[in-house]
Amino acid sequence: MLPAAGHLLSLLLVIGTGNTLPSLRAPPQGCYVAEEAGERTFRCSQAGLSAVPAGIPNDTRKLYLDANRLASVPAGAFEHLPVLEELDLSHNVLAHLSGAAFQGLAGTLRHLDLSANQLASVPVEAFVGLQIQVNLSANPWRCDCALQEVLRRVRLAPGTGTGIVCGPGARPDLVGQEFLPLAGEEELCGAGRGGVRRSTDVALLVIMGGWLLLVGAYLAHYMWQNRDDPRRPLKRAPLKRVRSEDASTVSTVV
Ligand SMILES: *[C@@H]1O[C@H](CO)[C@@H](O)[C@H](O)[C@H]1NC(C)=O
Ligand SMILES: *[C@@H]1O[C@H](CO)[C@@H](O)[C@H](O)[C@H]1NC(C)=O
Repeated sequence: MLPAAGHLLSLLLVIGTGNTLPSLRAPPQGCYVAEEAGERTFRCSQAGLSAVPAGIPNDTRKLYLDANRLASVPAGAFEHLPVLEELDLSHNVLAHLSGAAFQGLAGTLRHLDLSANQLASVPVEAFVGLQIQVNLSANPWRCDCALQEVLRRVRLAPGTGTGIVCGPGARPDLVGQEFLPLAGEEELCGAGRGGVRRSTDVALLVIMGGWLLLVGAYLAHYMWQNRDDPRRPLKRAPLKRVRSEDASTVSTVV
């Protein structure tokens, strides 16, 4: 019933906007094209999808893929949508995002909803260059360095910070805790526990190595001179001895 109505609507839209053949291709089952506030929208909510569908019009600005069975987002999944501004992937079973999941959307994507999925961690690379507002609520976050890094790069949708809670895969003392206050207190990306110590250790090692090298070089130089020095008096000594015929002058020279 609804899909049929949606199809009819998209057909009407197609006729209305005078688009030609490519858009006449039927959208995937359960999906429909709409014009919302003058923006081309593609809705596939609750369509039983287990993968990002093909045939999404390339002028789509808002894409709703919420409440499906998507388990992962592969690299470049949306790169054929050059004007996509809003992407709703909420209420799926997403457990894995490719580092290139949002490739090609850097200039346009503004809103991303990843809430209510199975995400324990996300690759930081997926968010590099994006200027987005993101909803990360209701996922079983491992509360790791990657999440902390992501939160430094994105803006959270208003009021969604409290929804980022550490899941069963997190460090035992973090499970069930809100992540934002923790992330403000503790550095999870190397620094803080052990990390700072580790980097200062490395710095110390480098400095000590440098000193050792200097000392070694100085010692080598010193020894070279010392090995040289006895020779000089020895060379000079016979000359002096020959000249003065007196051993005492040699000892005073040395
Ligand atoms: C969509 O694809 C058509 C045909 O390839 C192209 O002419 C059009 O410019 C594209 N639209 C956008 C927004 O990229
Ligand atoms: C963020 O996601 C949660 C869970 O899906 C939802 O209840 C909430 O309304 C969302 N908030 C925003 C601002 O989108």
